[in-house]
Amino acid sequence: MSYKANFKIWRGDDTSGELHDFIVEVNEGEVVLDIIHRLQATQAPDLAVRWNCKAGKCGSCSAEINGKPRLLCMTRMSVFTEEETVTVTPLRTFPVVRDLVTDVSYNYQKAREVPSFAPPKELGLGEYRMKQQDVERSQEFRKCIECFLCQNTCHVIRDHEENKENFSGPRFLMRVAELEMHPLDTEDRVREAQDEHGLGYCNITKCCTEVCPEHIKITDNALIPMKERVADRKYDPIVWLGNQLFRR
Ligand code: SF4
Ligand code: F3S
Ligand code: FES
Repeated sequence: MSYKANFKIWRGDDTSGELHDFIVEVNEGEVVLDIIHRLQATQAPDLAVRWNCKAGKCGSCSAEINGKPRLLCMTRMSVFTEEETVTVTPLRTFPVVRDLVTDVSYNYQKAREVPSFAPPKELGLGEYRMKQQDVERSQEFRKCIECFLCQNTCHVIRDHEENKENFSGPRFLMRVAELEMHPLDTEDRVREAQDEHGLGYCNITKCCTEVCPEHIKITDNALIPMKERVADRKYDPIVWLGNQLFRR
């Protein structure tokens, strides 16, 4: 069964753009990315869109559909009524390259700023056996497909370009948390999270968690535990005294 749907697609570049109207065929079982491809094939051959796997695994096709950050390839047309106009716009938090493609290099920069896993130098290969519980903790974070929907949604940078320098966003604070929870890591991740990645900017609104297509509990399992560790360190009198002595 097929029908004709009304689409509005944002077209433009980093200087200007506007919504363009299209009427396009929709067939049973299709996702929004299928419709974008049909538009490219029939009406707008130069429409720019980024995608790769069409299976919700590469994280490339992130955009906003009717104002909600989503993966184009995982959004079924059946979630909209046949009469509904479907509006597709680029991610709002990052600069537009063209049409639906944004420049997400902010995220690559933030990824580079997280120092890599640092096990004790003296530890030989196979000398440590990790507990299953520790494996499982980081396993959840490793489901991340780097779609950056969480980064796009977090109000700390969505509405405040000026915060980008000091805030790494939920995806990379989660990476810092993953390293902090690794029993062998020797870096001071609690200090890093607070001083270098802007953990204090996060006020636990959980919008990042709501949009994560991998259903990672970013706020509950990564951000809140990190905040608790920062608070423990700040308010524990012994730790405080230790910090004071260390500074001298
Ligand atoms: Fe995407 Fe979830 Fe990873 Fe954020 S944490 S980049 S929303 S998969
Ligand atoms: Fe932003 Fe997520 Fe915190 S949306 S404010 S990082 S809970
Ligand atoms: Fe890979 Fe959508 S095309 S996640």
